[in-house]
Amino acid sequence: MSTHRFGGPWTEEKLAILRAYLDAYTTALKNQRFTLIYVDAFAGPGSYAEFVDEYAEFHEFRRGSPMIALEIVDRPFDRLVFIEKDAKAAGDLMTLSNTYRGRNITVLHGDANDEIPKFCNEIEAFDRAVVFLDPYATEVYWPTVEAIAKTNKIDCWILFPRMAVTRLMPTDREPREAWKEQLNRIFGGLEYWMEGYQDSYQISLFSTEPGQERTWSSEQIAARYKERLGTVFHKVAQSSRTLRNSRNVPLFELFFAAGNPRGAPIEVQIADHILKNL
Ligand SMILES: C[S@@+](CC[C@H](N)C(=O)[O-])C[C@H]1O[C@@H](n2cnc3c(N)ncnc32)[C@H](O)[C@@H]1O
Repeated sequence: MSTHRFGGPWTEEKLAILRAYLDAYTTALKNQRFTLIYVDAFAGPGSYAEFVDEYAEFHEFRRGSPMIALEIVDRPFDRLVFIEKDAKAAGDLMTLSNTYRGRNITVLHGDANDEIPKFCNEIEAFDRAVVFLDPYATEVYWPTVEAIAKTNKIDCWILFPRMAVTRLMPTDREPREAWKEQLNRIFGGLEYWMEGYQDSYQISLFSTEPGQERTWSSEQIAARYKERLGTVFHKVAQSSRTLRNSRNVPLFELFFAAGNPRGAPIEVQIADHILKNL
């Protein structure tokens, strides 16, 4: 177990949604011959001990997403893959895995943007998978999302870092070079986010050239990302969930996208229902 940072109430909210989906997904595929795989691409340590008093004496035990997936019991996953970049958290995952004897668990200590495309290349005809992309901020790159969609066998929950991306896009000028490169990695190209800017003719003491100003709100930035998902996945849930901090500021937008043409209608229906009602 780790004393890793767990997050705020939004953490519980996203995990409740994930749990409800994994339960419904495995039940829906219960009588099918598929090998069901759960892939946690930003797995964390698996569980957390969170201090609940100011003297750090008492803690509460919290399940992280890997443990939630391991505890789906009605129709358990046949295989679980946990990817984690941090050595300490990867070690915790190994320890956790050892307590689940008899389960097929792979812990990969590496970068999700390297490991996910490898997993996608090796996926077999009768495999079906759910991938959870749960970064701290802007660590999910577009080629990773595209590789998942291309398999036609994977459903994906994606936490889009709405606040972090909005901060990369200043309102009164173009992003600086390093931020542009990061935005390109997130959206898969300049053209997908640059439309959020237009010429600005505000009078400047220093220049007669028009500058740039952002016209998209943070909500519109997230909507553009959802549109991008729709260009590669078979179907994207109409609903999404805005995860907010205690001051009600939107931090993330949780999206669901389905890759399998036959399964997508029912899977998206399940995800939409959960996103609207839970
Ligand atoms: C929000 S936490 C994950 C929480 C976890 N899903 C849970 O519910 O318990 C994000 C995790 O991703 C890891 N991480 C950050 N960048 C990564 C990368 N490029 N590849 C894999 N893991 C990464 C961090 O070390 C951290 O443990």
